[in-house]
Amino acid sequence: MPAKTNNVSNMTTRNAALTGWGTYLPERVVTNAEIEATVDTTDDWIVRRTGIRERRIAATGETTSSMAIEAGKRALDQAGLSVADLQLIIVATTTPDELCPPVSSRVQYGLGATNAAALVVQTACTGFVTALITAYQFINSGAFPNALVIGAETLSRFVDWEDRSTCILFGDGAGAVVLEATDGACGLHGFVMGSDGSGADEIKIPAGGSVEPATVMSVASEQHTIRMNGRAVFKFATRILAMAGQNAVVAAGLTFDAVDWVIPHQANKRIIESAARSMGIPEDRFVVNIEWYGNTSAASVAIALAEALDSGQIQPYDKLLLVAFGAGLTWAAAVVQPEPVTSSHWHERFESVVLSER
Ligand code: ACO
Repeated sequence: MPAKTNNVSNMTTRNAALTGWGTYLPERVVTNAEIEATVDTTDDWIVRRTGIRERRIAATGETTSSMAIEAGKRALDQAGLSVADLQLIIVATTTPDELCPPVSSRVQYGLGATNAAALVVQTACTGFVTALITAYQFINSGAFPNALVIGAETLSRFVDWEDRSTCILFGDGAGAVVLEATDGACGLHGFVMGSDGSGADEIKIPAGGSVEPATVMSVASEQHTIRMNGRAVFKFATRILAMAGQNAVVAAGLTFDAVDWVIPHQANKRIIESAARSMGIPEDRFVVNIEWYGNTSAASVAIALAEALDSGQIQPYDKLLLVAFGAGLTWAAAVVQPEPVTSSHWHERFESVVLSER
């Protein structure tokens, strides 16, 4: 597996600070009890086998771009970055509004970010981590001074609600972060990215692409919905999370002991527990919110990261291991420190969060 190191003390490149974050979760909550009423399953089975209790489902009119825009606005507001100054938008998604145009252009227009380049990263559930690593490269190289990175999904529109093996898993939502160039010692310390296309058929939406364009037949047979070999993906996931995490930590010149928090893709609680055992990191150092949102694919790490930053669970100078896997099959892991230890931005913010919660 190729590993890359970003030397954050090398001042010939710019580091990047994570200065803002935001989420958007649809209001509609669908509990396991509601799913029990439509397919042959039970709340007990879903909780025991996946850890999921409920998920959010987008309302009519809510789309991947509308959720991405809302999460993006919140992240920009918090960073105090004017939308006119934003230079780059990367949207990670598997469920764009349309196959064409790229949903990133709809997001860019919706934000009013007239000076920003916009592009999509489509590596399924790995998407947000891939997009974040990509954004760091553009800032580290000096190409852009800032970037808005968004993970957003409307998976509910691609789920076969009569297939109990998949409809229990997925949810909708968006998460976003702002990166800005800094000379402070923070940013991306090391990462890995990988792909194994021999597993491409293990998770897929068979119809609607150029291999099988949408037809009356393909729609009638639900071929435009997610098909997954759950057991094969489960085996792959338990192996790859620990391996990718280990390689990213080595690329950062660290060991697992130096990682303060792991933010894994939220696909199945049992996969996260298995990764914790393999890494030898206690489960209470993993950020886990799968109970409430299910698997939101490319949005999952973004939402978990933003919520943990918002609640103060993650401190600004903590070393975070973000690790994800997904269809492709793909994987990515990154060791990230949001801000330098001494950042006044964070100290001011954290004081106000702590005071407002008292
Ligand atoms: N309720 C009750 N029983 C069920 C359900 C359900 N919702 N779903 C499956 N079962 C049954 C099966 O039919 C099977 O019955 P059988 O033994 O009579 O055949 C039994 O439960 C066991 O099935 P398994 O598939 O072995 O169940 P498992 O414990 O593996 O859990 C699950 C299934 C939750 C899908 C799991 O395999 C999993 O999480 N896989 C990984 C999925 C994943 O991570 N996807 C992420 C990528 S998605 C992306 O990139 C967009």
